Amino acid sequence: MDRRSFEERFNAQLPHSKILYERACQVLPSGLTHDGRHLTPFPPYIDRANGSKKWDVDGNEYVDYWMGHGALLLGHAHPKLVQAIQEQVARGTHFGGCHELEVRWAELISQLMPAANKVRFVGSGTEATQLAMRLARAFTGRGKTIKFAGHFHGWHDAVTPSVILPFEVPASAGVLRSSLESTISLPPNDLALVEDAIKQEGDVAAVIVEPGGGSWGAIPTTGEFLRELRRVTAENEVVLIFDEVVTGFRLAPGGAQEYYGVIPDLVCLAKVVAGGLPGGAVAGRQEIMELLEFKDDLDWNRYRKVAHQGTFNANPLSAAAGIAVLEEVAKGDCIRQANGLCGQLADGMNEVLHRTGIEGRVYVQGSMFHIALEVEPADADYKRLAELAKGPGANELRKAMLLEGVDLMRNGGFLSSAHTTADIDKTIQAFAKALATWALNRGRNR
Ligand SMILES: Cc1ncc(COP(=O)(O)O)c(C=O)c1O
Repeated sequence: MDRRSFEERFNAQLPHSKILYERACQVLPSGLTHDGRHLTPFPPYIDRANGSKKWDVDGNEYVDYWMGHGALLLGHAHPKLVQAIQEQVARGTHFGGCHELEVRWAELISQLMPAANKVRFVGSGTEATQLAMRLARAFTGRGKTIKFAGHFHGWHDAVTPSVILPFEVPASAGVLRSSLESTISLPPNDLALVEDAIKQEGDVAAVIVEPGGGSWGAIPTTGEFLRELRRVTAENEVVLIFDEVVTGFRLAPGGAQEYYGVIPDLVCLAKVVAGGLPGGAVAGRQEIMELLEFKDDLDWNRYRKVAHQGTFNANPLSAAAGIAVLEEVAKGDCIRQANGLCGQLADGMNEVLHRTGIEGRVYVQGSMFHIALEVEPADADYKRLAELAKGPGANELRKAMLLEGVDLMRNGGFLSSAHTTADIDKTIQAFAKALATWALNRGRNR
């Protein structure tokens, strides 16, 4: 086993990433463009990607489990996607006007997603949850949204409560106090608390939930909880919002709503929906989506309509990419393939854990997997699972895996239909070696 520190090994193996990181720190806070990419001593700088792999500026090859933060269901640079984007870029990237691709894109979403009567395109997942919450407030005339601890819905003010530990403190400084007051945070998976909060507050417009479980499934949920949530929200005329930014077109062609057979009022989409380019959407019931419509009624248009702009909404490039991917999703094979490989990966990694005697388990949902070390996830409460997924130690295993040629998304990752059994074998072998490094560094840090 290599007994050098992470810093020594990173310096030796990724020298050009180090140089780029030092340059980046001169112009980008912490050298970064997304908090989730923070890594000490420095992150790898990626040069190119194809299929299931990516290569850094030193030529190191990685089996990639970030998959564009979960956006790349078909892997990197899928030929159909490349073709669709190349054809579109030559025809124009922004018409400042309506175009056929946005219609086709919405038709596909509507065809695949049970809840999607109507669709409105936005620029990102954060914008999708922000718009869905605004629609719910306008529809009900009420002000508050219930969210669950450990569930992530983007970075706008109202969804910063109870994202990371300690849950009592919002995930960011600088958040408007009035926004925090508009959000009711509850522990996940406890229906009685939801019922009580709706009854006692009397001002609840919506419940927003990651239907696959908090932090893309790190804190699992159950179909039973979702079904009961549907019942309780319907009985109290509260809008049920499924944040399917991750699960949409990944867990099943129709997302978590198809997988669990629970239809929300509104659904938030991003990532896979835009084929790996920027973009997202809110979709849902006609009666709610109607709030975005113009009518032959000046009063309605000025005082009752929900306003919504966004320069890059449904831009032709994202639309072309989204259509190319959703047409593949509709066939069903890519999801089945990614799910099957994810199961194989978890089995292999669990065997390694068993062999090495390190307590822990790898658990999966569809094509997403999570690694819980030093704990049996079934016995751990939601705070412990949130800590494992996003806490200060969440990158330690990732560093050890990077040095073995595998890029995990902290303690887990996303499979794509481009991954192969050779990738799975390589990852399992890397996991066995990385666990030894992880255990050594854990000892050093204690
Ligand atoms: C469940 C969920 N909702 C919302 C978002 C925010 O999406 P975006 O990064 O596109 O703003 C994310 C991003 O990872 C997410 O996982």
